[in-house]
Amino acid sequence: MTMTADMAVSGARSGAMPAEAAAGTAAEAGRRAGEAFFAARDIHAYYGESYVVQGVSFEIKEGEILALLGRNGAGKTSTLRAIARMDNPSLQKGEIVLGGKALHPLRSFEAARAGVQLVPEDRRIIGGLTVEENLILAQVAPPLGWPLERLYEHFPRLAERRKQEATTLSGGEQQMLAVARALARELKLLLLDEPYEGLAPVIVREIEKIVAGIKAEGITTIIVEQNAIAALELADRAVILDMGEVVFDGGADHVLDNAELRAAYLAV
Ligand SMILES: Nc1ncnc2c1ncn2[C@@H]1O[C@H](COP(=O)(O)OP(=O)(O)O)[C@@H](O)[C@H]1O
Ligand SMILES: [Mg+2]
Repeated sequence: MTMTADMAVSGARSGAMPAEAAAGTAAEAGRRAGEAFFAARDIHAYYGESYVVQGVSFEIKEGEILALLGRNGAGKTSTLRAIARMDNPSLQKGEIVLGGKALHPLRSFEAARAGVQLVPEDRRIIGGLTVEENLILAQVAPPLGWPLERLYEHFPRLAERRKQEATTLSGGEQQMLAVARALARELKLLLLDEPYEGLAPVIVREIEKIVAGIKAEGITTIIVEQNAIAALELADRAVILDMGEVVFDGGADHVLDNAELRAAYLAV
């Protein structure tokens, strides 16, 4: 049994369902129904003494887009970083599984080899290199993803600017480059942290099309966004975090249709 919308609205945070119970039943449900493509089970992560991811559990079917939402400081970035197996925050407890492979014992470079690609909020475009050099650098070590020609077919703006110094691109183009770089590696789980941040609506539409195109390729995505409505319109499912805990897990449509839930946890 997973947490329902009604439970979230009626105050799951007040202790209606302890994290341990939710995780246990989710894991049992997973075993009954066959393993989910991706699962985080009762993950706990810390920055030093600071306890920021407090028993988060959710599952994703292959090829789905999950919107991971919540207010500033709710623990969204920390959850993505824990999944990508970054050192900080440090994962102290819980299981993370992708396509039957356990991620929780891995280091970040090993998770990347297993197909987890995090596109961080600051995009990490490498200065002093052209667009093409940024893409080539992503492909110095196997396992490789899409070849350059295929990337340029999907990102014609990047093809036009392939010889341009990457940090001189517009914000939207840098976001495209960051996503293209994830596709240049083997990609099974794409983690997008606030991809629309600072972008004009017309550019947001372009990035949305790119994310929808990636879904059409069968790739599984977690999108974190402050622009919750835009993320929900693209997503199949939504998980809402509050103070490091899951307070809603259900259909994206349910959140779009539920003003009370949005007001409580998203301020939209
Ligand atoms: N590097 C860090 N060191 C210590 N605390 C951090 C660090 N990064 C984030 N935090 C804290 O962890 C909590 C969750 O932050 P974060 O995951 O960035 O939230 P969100 O992405 O939902 O805005 C917040 O209380 C934040 O202040
Ligand atoms: Mg964040």
